Amino acid sequence: MSAGFSVKVPACVVETCYEHEGVIVPNIMPLKALKRLRNFAVRPDDLFIVTYPKSGTTWAEQVMMLIRYNGNLNKLEGKHIMKLIPFLEHVKDIANPSVLYVARNPKDTAVSFYHFCHYVGPMPSYESWDVFFEEFITGRTPQGSWFENVLPWWRRRNHPNVLFLKYEDMIKDLPTAVRQIAHFMGKSLSDDVIKQISRASTFEAMKSNPSANPDSIISPTIHRENNQSFMRKGIIGDWKNYFTADQNRRFDELYQKKLSSTGLVMQFEAKAPFIPSLY
Ligand code: A3P
Repeated sequence: MSAGFSVKVPACVVETCYEHEGVIVPNIMPLKALKRLRNFAVRPDDLFIVTYPKSGTTWAEQVMMLIRYNGNLNKLEGKHIMKLIPFLEHVKDIANPSVLYVARNPKDTAVSFYHFCHYVGPMPSYESWDVFFEEFITGRTPQGSWFENVLPWWRRRNHPNVLFLKYEDMIKDLPTAVRQIAHFMGKSLSDDVIKQISRASTFEAMKSNPSANPDSIISPTIHRENNQSFMRKGIIGDWKNYFTADQNRRFDELYQKKLSSTGLVMQFEAKAPFIPSLY
């Protein structure tokens, strides 16, 4: 066991995180802030974006902000979407929020998370992918288990205040996802505006837009020095470059055990190439 933790965790986690109610939380999310959220007063028209880390939070922020401004990109100029939409951790106890939940297949999420931990200074720098994988498969990475994050929202997917979307479906058909989100937000937008928002929300468009690419506000020195970017690859299937055959077998076993009775099926392979110019 590691000091302050109920289980043994890598030294980089001891240095940068704490454990709260069985979940590992990075120090950049102080306990005081988590406790304050328990008493957060929700208004009926509040909208929350909820995800497991690295599942498309920033993408959903971009789409929602553009829907709010009817596709007018000028409204975001000089501002940053991550500043316009604050991070409120721990929404699970807030009654009846209107929630957009984005789920991404856990293998790509894990790979993205591993890189993110190295990209952001105050996150634990796991010494290798193999070390990170062991922590991820046992739900000991920061913010806990992917399964425990996704499943409660999957169960609530038919609640009128919840829209459950998958990252992979957004990749496959972004305009349909934008339309779904707009409908959920009570906005009726023309096809032209939907296309305009989709074009401004592709991986390439967001990467080259300083109001949408988090590089300009997160760890600017780190990503400049190591040539890393928050907007890393934005694809389905990168996990194949990291998971060994044995890791894949073990993860599939867990996936079957946790999800087989839930009806939730995630997509691990890109079925068709992503062609943003279609928009
Ligand atoms: P990768 O590291 O696999 O590239 P979050 O915002 O929840 O932290 O998620 C970040 C992940 O979403 C990163 O994945 C990032 O590249 C990807 N992403 C962000 N915007 C995207 C977009 N418009 N299209 C596809 N992927 C996007």
